[in-house]
Amino acid sequence: MAIKFDSRYPSIDDLRTKAQKKIPKFAFEYLDGGCNEDVNLLRNTSELRDVQLKPNYLRAHVGASLKTKLFGIEYDAPFGIAPVGLQGLMWPNSPEILAKAAFEHNIPFILSTVTTTSIERASELTEGKAWFQLYHPTENRLRDDIIHRAAAAECPVLVILCDVPTFGFRPRDIRNGLAMPPKMSIQNILQVLGKPHWALETLRYGQPNFENLKPYMPKGLDLKQLGKFMDQTFSGRLNAEKIKPIRDMWKGKLVLKGVASEYDAEEAIKLGIDGIIVSNHGGRQLDAGESTIKPLTTIAEKYGNQIEVMMDSGIRSGPDVARAMASGAKFTFMGRSFMYGVSALGKEGGNHTISLLKTELQQVMEQLCCETTRDFPDHLIK
Ligand SMILES: Cc1cc2nc3c(=O)[nH]c(=O)nc-3n(C[C@H](O)[C@H](O)[C@H](O)COP(=O)(O)O)c2cc1C
Repeated sequence: MAIKFDSRYPSIDDLRTKAQKKIPKFAFEYLDGGCNEDVNLLRNTSELRDVQLKPNYLRAHVGASLKTKLFGIEYDAPFGIAPVGLQGLMWPNSPEILAKAAFEHNIPFILSTVTTTSIERASELTEGKAWFQLYHPTENRLRDDIIHRAAAAECPVLVILCDVPTFGFRPRDIRNGLAMPPKMSIQNILQVLGKPHWALETLRYGQPNFENLKPYMPKGLDLKQLGKFMDQTFSGRLNAEKIKPIRDMWKGKLVLKGVASEYDAEEAIKLGIDGIIVSNHGGRQLDAGESTIKPLTTIAEKYGNQIEVMMDSGIRSGPDVARAMASGAKFTFMGRSFMYGVSALGKEGGNHTISLLKTELQQVMEQLCCETTRDFPDHLIK
C-alpha cells in the first residue's frame, strides 16, 4: 500500500484536535479519557518521552526497513491496532475502516469482543489476518463458542485480557451516562445534533451494536437490560484456572494483554502463553499504576528471551514506537492514535494514520542509522 497522508494533519495531536470537533462530546470523552484523575494516562506518554536515543551519523548505512517478524509472520511495520470497544460509537463503521487499512498496510488489527463488528466480518476484510481479543465470558459454553468462531475465522492470534477485573472508574463516562448501561440523555442528543457529519454517517450505518454478541443476546433488550446482560455475561478477572483451558483449546498463538508486573509475566510463561502485551489499557484502569515504559524495561530484560514482549499505552508517534522498541518491546500497539485518525478523517483515517506513523518511524531509523527494527536497543541512552 502506498504511503500517503493528508498534509493538513501531520501529527496524532492534529487528528485528536480534529476528532474533538467532529464527534459528539460523550463519544470523544469516552475515547480520550483515562480514569479517575488521568494521572496514569498522562504518565504513559510523558515517561515514554523521557526515553532518549543516540544517532550514529557516520556509521555505514545501507537503508532502513520497517519490516518486522512476529509469531512467524512478517509485518510491514512494528506496530498494530489495539482492540477498542464500541468503536462504531466514535465513528460509524470504524472497525471495518481500520481492519481494511491494517490489511492493506500489512500490520495487525486486533478486534475487541465488545466492538461493533463481528469476528467473521473482520476476518473477511483482512483475509483471515485479524487477531481477536476475548473478554472472558462467565459461562464456559459461551467462551468455547466464541473461541471456536475465532478459530473458524482463521484468526492467527487470540488475545486474552488480564487488566479488567473491574471496569475502570471514569468520571467523564459516568457524567455522560456512558457507564454501562449507556443512555441517550437529552444532553447527549443535543451533542449529536451539533455534529451533523457524525449524525448522518450514524444514520447511514445504523445504530452501533455489539455484533460479536448478537447471537447470544436475547432480542429486544432495552439499554438497562443490556447492561445487566453484559455484567452477567463477562467475568473480567483472569487466573491460571481460566487460562489453562483456553491454552489447551487454542491452537494458534496466545497473547496475554494487560501485563504490568514481573509476577504476571512469569505466570504467563508458566502457562505456556506465547506473548505478552505490557499495557495498562491506555491509563483507563489503575490511575495509581506505573506508566508502561517502566515495567516494559524490566520485563523485557528479564523475560524477553522466553516470551514475545510487546507494549502499548501512550504511544502517539514514530519516535514513540522507536522509544518503546529501544526499551525492549518486540512490537507495539496503539489504541487512541488510530481512533483519533478515523474519528477525524472517516474512511481516509486508517490509511492516513498508518502512513503517518510509518513515515515518522522511517525517518527515525534513518537518523539513528538502524537497518532493522531489531536495532533500536543499540541506540538507547541508559
Ligand atoms: C476507547 C477505548 C476502548 C478500549 N476498549 C478495549 C477493549 O475492548 N479491549 C481491550 O483489550 N482493550 C481496550 N482498550 C485498550 C486498548 O486496547 C489499548 O490497550 C490502549 O488504547 C493503549 O493505549 P493508547 O490508547 O494510549 O494507545 C480500549 C482503549 C480505549 C481508548
